Amino acid sequence: MGSMELIQDTSRPPLEYVKGVPLIKYFAEAMGPLQSFEAWPDDLLISTYPKSGTTWVSEILDMIYHGGDQQKCSRAPIYIRVPFLEFKAPGAPSGMETLKETPAPRLLKTHLPLALLPQTLLDQKVKVIYMARNAKDVAVSYYNFYNMAKVHPHPGTWDNFLEKFMSGNVSYGSWYQHVREWRELGRTHPLLYLFYEDMKENPKKEIRKILEFVGRSLPEEVVDHIVKCTSFKEMKANPMTNYSTLPSSIMDHNVSPFMRKGVAGDWKSTFTVAQNEHFEAHYAQKMAGCDLPFRSEL
Ligand code: A3P
Repeated sequence: MGSMELIQDTSRPPLEYVKGVPLIKYFAEAMGPLQSFEAWPDDLLISTYPKSGTTWVSEILDMIYHGGDQQKCSRAPIYIRVPFLEFKAPGAPSGMETLKETPAPRLLKTHLPLALLPQTLLDQKVKVIYMARNAKDVAVSYYNFYNMAKVHPHPGTWDNFLEKFMSGNVSYGSWYQHVREWRELGRTHPLLYLFYEDMKENPKKEIRKILEFVGRSLPEEVVDHIVKCTSFKEMKANPMTNYSTLPSSIMDHNVSPFMRKGVAGDWKSTFTVAQNEHFEAHYAQKMAGCDLPFRSEL
C-alpha cells in the first residue's frame, strides 16, 4: 500500500451523528471521554459556532489573563493554552489530554451546541463568552476551512456547501440554532454575548466589556497593547496563534491559510447574486422572531 492510501485512511472521514448533531468523526469519538470532564468554578468557557472568531477572542483572553505580557502568551500554541474540549485528531493531543496539563484559572474552548455541552459547565456556573459572526461570512470561512482542514469531509462545490450549511448538514450542525440557543442560555447563565463585527469595528470597546465580565481591570496602555497584538496582521504572523504548528495532515495552509482574510463582508467575493437572494429568503424564515443584531458588513 502506498503512503497516499495510508493518508487517505485517516483523512476526510464522513461526519458522525451524536444525539442528532453531525460532528467530525474524531470529535464524535471524543464525546465519550468528555463525560469525565469536571468543570471548575473559576473556568471560563469560550463558546462559538466554528469560524466566528474563536481564536481571536481566545488570544485576547489569554493576554488579559497574563496582564498583556506577549512573552507569556508565546509559551505554547493557542490550542494548548486554551484547551478545545471536544478536540481529537490523529497526530495531536486531544482536548482532554491537554486539559490535564492546564493550571487554573483555565480558559476552555468549545463549539458544541447545548445538546452536547457537558452539564458540569452549567452546574459549576462557569462564565461563558460567546462570540457570534454573521452567517454569510461564517459560511464562506467554513467552506475554506473544510478545504484546508482534512478532518472534515470534502466540502464539494461552494454551491453544494452553502446548501449543506443552510440545512445544518455540516460539522456542529445548524448555525441558526447555535446562535439562538446560546443567546437563550444567557437568560439563566452568566454569559457575555459578543459579535465578531463589533470586535472588528471597535476592539477596545469589546475588550473593555470582556474585562468587566471577567472582573479584571488593566491600565489603558495595556489594553491598547492587547488590541495591537491581537490584530489580524499580528495574529497571522504569530506561529502561536496561526495554527502553523499543527501537522499538515490536519491543516494544510497551502490550500487556504487558517488566518485567511479576517474581515467583515468578505462573503460578497464568493456569493453570487442568486445565492444571496436564496440565502436571504431562507435566513428570514430560520431567524424569524429573533432579535439578534447581526451585521453582514461594516
Ligand atoms: P476568515 O476565514 O473569514 O478570514 P475561528 O477562530 O472561530 O476558527 O475563526 C476563524 C476566522 O476568524 C477566520 O476568518 C480568521 O481569519 C478570523 N480571525 C482570526 N483572528 C482574527 C483577528 N485577529 N482579526 C480578525 N479576524 C480574525
